[in-house]
Amino acid sequence: MRDTITITDDRTGKTVTVPIEGGVFSSSALRELDPSLFMYDPAFMSTAACKSEITYLDGGAGILRYRGYPIEQLAEHSTYLEVAYLLLHGDLPSTDQLATWRNDVTHHTFIHENMRKRFVDGFHYDAHPMGMFISSIAALGTFYDGAKNIQNEASRRKQILRLIAKTPTLAAMAYRFSIGQPFNYPDNDLSYPANFLNMMWKVGPHYEVDPALERAMEVLFILHADHEQNCGTTAMRVVGSSHVDPYSSAAAAAAALYGPRHGGANEAVVRMLSEIGSIENVPAFVESVKAGDGRLMGFGHRVYKNYDPRATIIKKAAYDVFDVTGKNPLLDIALALEDVALKDPYFIDRKLYPNVDFYSGLIYQALGFPVDMFTVLFAIPRTVGWLAHWQELLADPDQKISRPRQWYSGPGERSYVAIADR
Ligand code: SDX
Repeated sequence: MRDTITITDDRTGKTVTVPIEGGVFSSSALRELDPSLFMYDPAFMSTAACKSEITYLDGGAGILRYRGYPIEQLAEHSTYLEVAYLLLHGDLPSTDQLATWRNDVTHHTFIHENMRKRFVDGFHYDAHPMGMFISSIAALGTFYDGAKNIQNEASRRKQILRLIAKTPTLAAMAYRFSIGQPFNYPDNDLSYPANFLNMMWKVGPHYEVDPALERAMEVLFILHADHEQNCGTTAMRVVGSSHVDPYSSAAAAAAALYGPRHGGANEAVVRMLSEIGSIENVPAFVESVKAGDGRLMGFGHRVYKNYDPRATIIKKAAYDVFDVTGKNPLLDIALALEDVALKDPYFIDRKLYPNVDFYSGLIYQALGFPVDMFTVLFAIPRTVGWLAHWQELLADPDQKISRPRQWYSGPGERSYVAIADR
């Protein structure tokens, strides 16, 4: 069997044969047949828009690997900063490399005082933290003139360090603003997750981070770090392909993540569970979804047609958190919902399983985060995924500015009609 595909244009009898490599074939085959022919593929359901070495998914088997390392092993043994290094550099760091990396990130956690004292005050008192987060990332870029120098490796590294280091600070700033409490400065003696929890919760001179909760945040950050060509990362690549600075691209990626179909789902799941209200209401809710009245948020995935491996890990991590915080009362409703859905042909036939967002919100809520902070908690760790794809894009000789074609289905030529004659 040859690893090729042959396409015949029946209008001309012309055929073209192209190799199949890595499960893809080049669409240049079409241009060989007829330069005016395009494939119609809304939402890129069957399109590989790039070549990438960063993350591998097998949707049927429920496999997720960062640079070849299984997510289960990284969640058990690694830290977020070590995973961030892996995603950006391609290999796990040595002891010295990790120490330098941690030091570099830690010394970029502060933001300009004008961000804290002037920019953030422009928001309304009840602004959604995710809207503030998105705006703050774009605004951050205006403080760094070198950000536009994307062809310079040293400048790219500096911006990457700044974005990874400052997103927890921006997130905590958005939260503290929303509750009218003073901001907490970063504490560079703490780990990445502990520093974030410190900036979020410290009231008074000291905040004691519970090791179990610090580890839970670390695992959640690891699990959310990257996920190949999801909607937000695709936005990062499309906007980045215009060669704009990485802050503007990351703001676009965060904006895509904000949507309820994407990273906004963790917030939607907890709101859904709260609306269901009790285990007794689960069957009726499931029937309403099957009748087309809304979706089971936290279920389904474009790639995973099996269990999202992150959902399995998060579900286990939830119990570690609940040992400290007490069980989230919504957990029983979530478990009942999962049990009913996984036995129902409607969900089985559509291969709908819990995804990363189904249980994560229960942990965030148990940790004390308000629901409108949940997507921000997704965006913080995903920043390194966006940046890893951004730098891969810039280094890829195949890549140009993203500019897809279209299937024009509008009217043919017609002449202007004066308003008196319309
Ligand atoms: C994330 O891409 C990534 O990698 C994303 C992510 C990441 O790490 O970046 O993994 C993070 O975004 C996870 C997904 C979070 N979103 C949700 O939980 C929202 C609820 N799920 C969906 O809306 C949906 O499942 C999507 C958006 C996740 C995927 O949608 P697809 O692949 O476009 O599938 P579809 O909308 O075409 O649905 C196929 C069928 C439809 O039924 P029919 O029209 O064929 O009868 O499945 C049904 C849909 O109605 N369906 C659901 C459903 N999801 C799909 N029905 C009920 N509940 C659901 N959740």
